[in-house]
Amino acid sequence: MASAVRAIVIGNWKMNGVASALKELEGIAAEVGAAALGCDVMICPPATLISRAAMAAKGSAVAIGGQDCHWNAAGAHTGDVSAEMIADCGGTAVIVGHSERRTDHAETDEIVQKKAAAALRAGLTAIVCVGETLAERKAGRTLDVVSRQVKGSLPAGATAKNTILAYEPVWAIGTGLTPTTVEVAEVHGHIRDLLKDFVRSEGEGMRILYGGSVKPSNASELMAVANVNGALVGGASLKTADFMGILKAYM
Ligand code: PGA
Repeated sequence: MASAVRAIVIGNWKMNGVASALKELEGIAAEVGAAALGCDVMICPPATLISRAAMAAKGSAVAIGGQDCHWNAAGAHTGDVSAEMIADCGGTAVIVGHSERRTDHAETDEIVQKKAAAALRAGLTAIVCVGETLAERKAGRTLDVVSRQVKGSLPAGATAKNTILAYEPVWAIGTGLTPTTVEVAEVHGHIRDLLKDFVRSEGEGMRILYGGSVKPSNASELMAVANVNGALVGGASLKTADFMGILKAYM
């Protein structure tokens, strides 16, 4: 069950960070060290920093991932980055279907699924994001929306090893608001059931992360919720002290 699943804390820097941000990463890598903590640790910097971030984290237990990828391996897609390119830069995972991509770039479940499949093709771990808007929650549609997104976005061949699910209520991202632990438990339990149905035995061990205003002060409480196997952290991952404060909840 959930307790047997090794947690992972992933920092999503979004469109933040130039070369000077690597100092923060070096600080995190130094604190985490080479030893395995009680959880896995990953930072997803902007694409421009993946290569240098992978070098900065080398020798530590901190893995590096991308924030998005195109579904094709190469071709005429100006401005896009492929999963293979992320792997080439030293990344080992990529976030797909973040709500900011779904909203700002009109990404549908179908597109997200293609991107997740591309991640697996390139040997990356796919971090697939789902989550309802405030209007959807108020309309009592949270579980329906999340069900549709999970079923529509998971790639064929998803396993507990190559795929991570991240539940991020859109209204909790960057707002300081978080669902109650009861609400988090309800959605994570629902996702666990869906995964068991959808990917069979792999669904037991697939990690389901909570994301949306995770900070040092609420990390322990969220981590203790059934079927929460880690966190996807935005704003609080930009400062070493805050990110380490969150990691401590998992040590
Ligand atoms: P936040 O972002 O922690 O700043 O709310 C989370 C995310 O969007 O992944």
